[in-house]
Amino acid sequence: MYDSNKQSEFFLLSKELLTGRKQVSDYDTLVDLLQYHEWKYYIENDPVIADYEYDRLYQMLLDYEDRHPEMIRADSPSQRVSSDLTPSLDAVRHIVPMLSLANSYNEDDLAEFDRQIKKLTGIEGDVEYSIEPKLDGGSIALVYEDDLLARAATRGNGTEGEEITANAKAIPSIPLSAEFSRYGIKTAEVRGEAVIAINVFNQKNDQRQKEGLTLWANPRNAATGGLRLKDANESRNRGLEAFIFQLAYAVNDAGNDILHELASHGKSIEILSQLGFKLPLSKPRICRNINEAVDAAHHWEKIRDTYAYEIDGAVIKVNRFDLQDLCGATQHHPRWAIAFKFKAKQATTTLQDVEFQIGRTGAVTPVAKVRPVHLAGVTVSSISLHNEDFIIQKDLRIGDQVLIERAGDVIPYIVKSLPDLRTGDEQPIDFPKECPFNTTDQQVHLVKSGDEAAWRCPQCICGAQDLQRIIFHVSKDAMNIDGLGKSLVERFFDLGWIKDISDVYALDYDKIRALEGFGDKSADNLRDSIDKAKQNPLHKLLLSLGIHHFGKKASKLIAQHIQSVYDLAEWTLEDFTVIKDIGPVVAQNVMDYFNNEANVAMLRRMEERGVNVTQTDQDKPVETDEDAVLAGKTILFTGTLQQMGRKEAQQLAEKAGAMNISAVSKNLDILVVGEKAGSKLKKATALGTVDILTEEEFLNLINS
Ligand code: IVH
Repeated sequence: MYDSNKQSEFFLLSKELLTGRKQVSDYDTLVDLLQYHEWKYYIENDPVIADYEYDRLYQMLLDYEDRHPEMIRADSPSQRVSSDLTPSLDAVRHIVPMLSLANSYNEDDLAEFDRQIKKLTGIEGDVEYSIEPKLDGGSIALVYEDDLLARAATRGNGTEGEEITANAKAIPSIPLSAEFSRYGIKTAEVRGEAVIAINVFNQKNDQRQKEGLTLWANPRNAATGGLRLKDANESRNRGLEAFIFQLAYAVNDAGNDILHELASHGKSIEILSQLGFKLPLSKPRICRNINEAVDAAHHWEKIRDTYAYEIDGAVIKVNRFDLQDLCGATQHHPRWAIAFKFKAKQATTTLQDVEFQIGRTGAVTPVAKVRPVHLAGVTVSSISLHNEDFIIQKDLRIGDQVLIERAGDVIPYIVKSLPDLRTGDEQPIDFPKECPFNTTDQQVHLVKSGDEAAWRCPQCICGAQDLQRIIFHVSKDAMNIDGLGKSLVERFFDLGWIKDISDVYALDYDKIRALEGFGDKSADNLRDSIDKAKQNPLHKLLLSLGIHHFGKKASKLIAQHIQSVYDLAEWTLEDFTVIKDIGPVVAQNVMDYFNNEANVAMLRRMEERGVNVTQTDQDKPVETDEDAVLAGKTILFTGTLQQMGRKEAQQLAEKAGAMNISAVSKNLDILVVGEKAGSKLKKATALGTVDILTEEEFLNLINS
């Protein structure tokens, strides 16, 4: 699209304008420059300037257009957001009908498709196919007239769609102009899918939840809704992106067809890429025959969860246009293309019952028992309902039909209930007010504190929480005892061998050896893992106690300030709060834990059984000079570094006094960006409080 000379020319010009070495003199160059940066950002995902720098260039454009309104180009980036509201959506007739796709679900279906194609085209040997992911969003058709985006429409009924030009202009990855004339094309219609990336969808939904707005069910609904909004500015905020997968129509000045001169779908897609459109794949994937297409479709299914966008299948298309013509179309779909649908990720089932589980901090979690259904390769029968608010918000009742989904994050969840299908026999879900696990005669009321959503059991007298605490204690994040997983802990707990975490270190290996499923080797391995865990640094032990709200960072910080775990029994609120980043809630929880003599006695037992309870070298902060250049700063590396590896860079930063952290937040001081930096850079720029350095600048800084 832009050759390397052009790219460096634009980059230099940007820097000159930004540093004031050059003034804007030529409007067209400025528009071209901003279009280039839009392309780098939205199409290539590889911006060459920071967002705030782009914003400053954009402001220069606005200022210029303010002074010379008569010059404003229709494809200027400033024209993406229109201030006029679309009063209502007008119907528009598509130049070529927008058909749907036939579906296939397995290899046999695809073999049958290939047989049909051969019959229709008369080809006896291999037929070449193009394959792409099938994006799950809203279809769009874009008409370009004399290189300018003239009209955008949804699919509608296939013959007529809804006019959404203003909204399409607000989608940054839709080029406002594209040089079709380079190929002798006066009018072109391209087709594609408007989608919202899964992570953007999640962020926006989190935000909506905070604002008390109804949540979108999935990225597709958010995308199709976003296309139809009345206010194009709102469409812009929705984070829509447009992928183009077809050049459906192309004619020259005389109205003669140009499309067929391009010979194949693959070739036409390459041209669309040249013209600056965003494609589902960086270049067309051409398969020599149906077998290769089948392999490619399976490949896409396997990696679908790693793709940043929801995809529900792969689309297989006859590559050559002349063969496509021989195949023709039905009323409903072209005969030259087929969708290979992946296994469903959504299903409806019946909510049969709700059970409750208790966690190590006493939180009571409702779990839906549903009629088992097959969903994207697994059978789902239990789904967490999180808390009482979730049940209320989703209006769930026992007996309801529910829509469930397994999205990118693999864990199934309930999208919504389907109240229209109720028979009247559905029962409300009663959230218990007493601890449902309590086996004693004493009543234990559940409590809810502050703005927490969870109901908790405040004083466990039945042991249910103890089991959860032991499971957490041995887990990977805590003491990391290899070979002692949840089910084995449950087994030992039921046998009465482990009642609290100190018992993990007093297991009788002779008894274990004799257990069914165990032998000498597995018992010895277990002992080795437990012996190894005894040497863990103090911060791991602190974390493993499972104190409410007491996470990794806090345990590391506190371990730096104590010699032995028992020191905490003497600590006052002030001792905690002088440590930066330790808040009063954590402090109170730790104090409560150590004020309980039974807990201290348990720690003494652990010490007697060989568990390290004192500060080790691994607990100490990395020695740094008070005057070190980055003393007290937090730092994060993102993107690919050119001169060193990530680990090496982090060590250099630590030596210079900085602390490496893993996420962008207001606690981050410095972000060092390597090549292909993505969302972290965006987020840090948006915060406006983070110093953004290149690798070069970082090296200069620590060497200064
Ligand atoms: S080709 C006539 N390619 O799927 C053939 N469609 O179920 C035109 N879709 O309406 C469609 N990704 O909105 C094609 N790579 C892709 C696609 C794709 C998503 C959508 C499209 C179409 C629907 C049909």
